[in-house]
Amino acid sequence: MTLQEKCTILDFKDLGDERGKLVVIEGGMTIPFEIARVFYIYGSDDTVVRGQHANKKSEFVLINVAGSSKVRITDGKEEFIVELNRPMMGVYIPKMIWKDMYDFSSDSVLLVLSNTHYDGEEYLRNFDDYMEYKKKLESE
Ligand code: TYD
Repeated sequence: MTLQEKCTILDFKDLGDERGKLVVIEGGMTIPFEIARVFYIYGSDDTVVRGQHANKKSEFVLINVAGSSKVRITDGKEEFIVELNRPMMGVYIPKMIWKDMYDFSSDSVLLVLSNTHYDGEEYLRNFDDYMEYKKKLESE
């Protein structure tokens, strides 16, 4: 399976009508995990790079509910970039995948859903450490 096949682009259904748009995300249904944590990033701009980590346990779905941003996704072998620019679109990022979020529009609100509660210990924030840990897992 390629990296792009693992990191699915999610197209959420629009339940809107003449009164406005409505998007519903249900854990284990619309997205491939039960939701334990929700956070959102705003007030970033096109000069900052966020993320810059991989996670031993956490899976994520990223959605720009307003504005836009880009996500560079890599496993150290393959790499691709997703532009998040629609509230009806998300990207699923499994565990042990490196991601950088950047190029935030000034009105960007990046909503992040995760299957885990926060645990700083499961974050790999150094790319070389990530590659080493990945190699270790693959050799087991
Ligand atoms: P960080 O992981 O650097 O943010 P991002 O990946 O979005 O660029 O997190 C910034 C700070 O917030 C850091 O001190 C850890 C803390 N934090 C939590 O306490 N809980 C969380 O769920 C997240 C995502 C971060």
